[in-house]
Amino acid sequence: MPKHVGLDLGTSNTRMFIKGKGIILRSPTVVTVDKNKDVVVALGSDAKKMIGKTPSNMEAYRPIRNGVVADFEVTALMLHEFFLRTEALSLFNRPVVLVSTPENCTEVEKLAVENAIFAAGAKAVGMVGSSMAAAVGAGLKVNSPRGCMIVDIGGGMTQVAVISSGGIVRSRAVKLAGEKLDAAIINNLRMKKDLYVGEMTAELLKVRLGTALPETNRGLLDVSGRNEKLKCAQTVRVGSEDIYNAIHIALEAICRTITSVLESTPPELASDISDFGIMLVGGGANINGIAELINKKTGLRVTTAKNPMDCECIGIARLIEKPSIIPGGILYKNR
Ligand SMILES: Nc1ncnc2c1ncn2[C@@H]1O[C@H](COP(=O)(O)OP(=O)(O)OP(=O)(O)O)[C@@H](O)[C@H]1O
Ligand SMILES: [Mg+2]
Repeated sequence: MPKHVGLDLGTSNTRMFIKGKGIILRSPTVVTVDKNKDVVVALGSDAKKMIGKTPSNMEAYRPIRNGVVADFEVTALMLHEFFLRTEALSLFNRPVVLVSTPENCTEVEKLAVENAIFAAGAKAVGMVGSSMAAAVGAGLKVNSPRGCMIVDIGGGMTQVAVISSGGIVRSRAVKLAGEKLDAAIINNLRMKKDLYVGEMTAELLKVRLGTALPETNRGLLDVSGRNEKLKCAQTVRVGSEDIYNAIHIALEAICRTITSVLESTPPELASDISDFGIMLVGGGANINGIAELINKKTGLRVTTAKNPMDCECIGIARLIEKPSIIPGGILYKNR
């Protein structure tokens, strides 16, 4: 019997579900391969630790950018390795995969994801929109004619969607999410403290000290980097306020994306959303104070989903178990 696999192929993290086993993989979407791109040297967290540090015969890749395939060969190689390590793929068994793709991605981008999964060894591939999957995973009644809004702040993208009667009524995606916040922290420390830190340090600062609210103080952290003027290694004390200053403009832009979708939503649905509020998912839902900021900017109640980072994969899992949750079910292509 082929394994039925659910796949959330995110810009920062990949999650995999296997029917009968649950979510069996949560891993950074990073792979280190040799220069010929044919041998996997490290995968997931091990590969992430190698970013910016690989010797000349290897390269650590993030093959998914803003939710879509940026490097086809490396994506296929990474997925093949994930399938083998989770035993979704074996010599005699090729998996049937349901994958989510951003609501607004093009047919060409969808085809790239589909082909990479086939190249990784799948027997059949089905697709579902990522906002729809996340809404199902967050427990929203997607089939109801009462409209609901889901906001997914991921690593590469923030996706906002209004769902009603099993379909997407309005949606918008911007390439502004967790990784842009990390980049804003890197730029800010460079400009304000002459300190150049790596991506991993910036992410750590965001998680440990970051806040969406100016009045919140989450403390201090000593971090190491390279002093840009003195050209030497240096340790600098960074405060919560520094991180707020670095990220608040990007967070406000995320809020404006949400308000722009609300403004274009038909009045009847807008009224449903004002009754029910906004459901927040994705890793960015963990940013300290983000729900309060969105509430302040939109005037709407904001609920952070339980397990916000797993929602999309949980939704895919539910759609594997019961495809009829969405009208028309799920179509699988065989190869
Ligand atoms: N506690 C936290 N505070 C702030 N940011 C966080 C926290 N936990 C995770 N993140 C951020 O969430 C992002 C990853 O979220 P997620 O796994 O939902 O993204 P993804 O699904 O891989 O990306 P996308 O959906 O955009 O393709 C990363 O940028 C990570 O730094
Ligand atoms: Mg995601």
